[in-house]
Amino acid sequence: MMDRDSWVSNVGFVLAAVGSAAGLGNIWRFPWLTADNGGSAFLVMYLLLVVGIGVPGLLAELVLGRRGRQTPIGALRALIGSRWGTPLGAFNVITTAVMLSFYSVVGGWILRYTLLSPTGAYFAQPQQYFSHASHGLPAVGFHLLFLTIVAIIVYFGVSRGIERVSKIMLPAVVVLLGGLAVWTATQPNTAVGYAFYLDFDGDYLATHFFDVLGPAAGQALFTLSLGAGAMLTYASYLDEDVSLPRDTLVIAISNTVIGVLAGLVVLPLLFSQGISPGQGGPGALFVALATAFGSLPGGTLVATVFFFTVLLAAVTSGISLLETPVATLVDNYGISRRRATLLMTLVIAVTGSGLALAGPMFRFVSGPVVDVMLTIGLFAFLAIAGWILRDDAVAEFQTGAGRLRGFATPWLLAVSWVLPVVVMFLLTTTLASLAS
Ligand code: PFF
Repeated sequence: MMDRDSWVSNVGFVLAAVGSAAGLGNIWRFPWLTADNGGSAFLVMYLLLVVGIGVPGLLAELVLGRRGRQTPIGALRALIGSRWGTPLGAFNVITTAVMLSFYSVVGGWILRYTLLSPTGAYFAQPQQYFSHASHGLPAVGFHLLFLTIVAIIVYFGVSRGIERVSKIMLPAVVVLLGGLAVWTATQPNTAVGYAFYLDFDGDYLATHFFDVLGPAAGQALFTLSLGAGAMLTYASYLDEDVSLPRDTLVIAISNTVIGVLAGLVVLPLLFSQGISPGQGGPGALFVALATAFGSLPGGTLVATVFFFTVLLAAVTSGISLLETPVATLVDNYGISRRRATLLMTLVIAVTGSGLALAGPMFRFVSGPVVDVMLTIGLFAFLAIAGWILRDDAVAEFQTGAGRLRGFATPWLLAVSWVLPVVVMFLLTTTLASLAS
């Protein structure tokens, strides 16, 4: 293996990891899932699952990454001491490649909307505009553009590319989103939106408990970039003196704040324009927001800022998805980073274009397929940390952990007993709902 790159500082790692976590999932998927699943009821369930599954699960993935010191295939092979590491790691690499294929198409939509917002070109006929922009050749073109931006950053490597860019882009996302949330609060008629989002409705949760559980759990994994191997890869570039439990908490809290902020912008804005969130789906947010921006005073400016913010968030997530397969080629096959980036970018260019051209497939891949892959990935991480490594996992948890060392034992208990059962249950319900 060649000399590996590493993060210049722990702050750089945390910003890159939050950058991976905070993306389309927070700003595009989260508000719509919230709207579709009873507003505040979904918010509460999602927050519980982030704390209960997300935090210990993410910690397991980071533990494996830093202990393994490699990308998924090499790391899992070394950690479990068997060839089974290869298919398990390869599964992660495929997951990230599949995800980037659709992520980059949606990133392309966002790029297009960002460029066109200053003129408000899509305001007049949002539905028709979206139908035209989202599939076929126009979508392919913008997908390739988005992918190129991501590829250029990954090409420069971990410290010179990913870390540098994340240090600028992630704070920009937080500031812009915060600004938009404050601006939204000054708009008339937003009360209904805030109430829908924030007034806890216990009755809804009681009657729809299991309906809300599946999507909330899927979102908790997706939003934390959990189960794909991307966080494992990022953690493989970390030093021993870093506290993994502390970083996990910082990542999970920052990501949640960004998701909640996005909800504070999107939902009140839609309600203020009399648009009640209907059925979700990949395109709903674009159509609804375009309609809202079209009727707001200063709509072009707000739309530009909004889509630009989403674009930055999408780029910092996209780079973690490309880094995983690229770094795998570098680690395991001795290919130079430049060549590996070029090769993987070409692969994703083709697979993403295929998805952009094949309409219905897109929805299936970006929803259930990804949910199932992330759940299986997380299950494997839990099993390895909780059952195969055990003491080694605890030792890695405790390395650099300071006062949080004491939480290692309850964490191991959760990772070996509680979480696998919950995650298996979630996988079964997702598969059952797919079959029905
Ligand atoms: N967490 C990202 C989001 O919420 O948009 C999506 C994601 C990125 C998932 C990277 C998984 C991953 F490895």
